[in-house]
Amino acid sequence: MNKLLETAKAARKNAHCPYSKFAVGAAVLSKTGKIYAGCNVENISYPIGTCAEEAAIAAMLTDGEKLIKEILIIADSKSLITPCGACLQRIKEFSNSATLVHLAGLKGVQKTYKIKDLLPFAFAEDLKK
Ligand code: THU
Repeated sequence: MNKLLETAKAARKNAHCPYSKFAVGAAVLSKTGKIYAGCNVENISYPIGTCAEEAAIAAMLTDGEKLIKEILIIADSKSLITPCGACLQRIKEFSNSATLVHLAGLKGVQKTYKIKDLLPFAFAEDLKK
């Protein structure tokens, strides 16, 4: 868990978020134990920005991995940071019923949920049991 937290924290420092000023980091632990990082990358044409989770998941796929065992998302937020709706669906695509989502602030993990609890009626079947 510590490695996941430190990886996400380091990725968050590289966020490109001059418009929202809201830096987000994510780290994915794959089925085989590898860790992939991502940060949010904004653009002056606002709608084409990408989320931290999106980047970390893309890195995992690029490396040939297909299953998220755990994902950790970190931000400096007063309220709990939760993935946006689109990212919940992205996480779900590469999850199984045991996949965990850790939500963290700068001091560490605040809450852990199963993806199925965050997105209970996802448009998907559990293809990877
Ligand atoms: N953002 C993420 O990267 N992940 C989330 O789960 C929520 C929002 C980013 C998108 C945008 O760059 C900034 O945070 C403010 O919404």
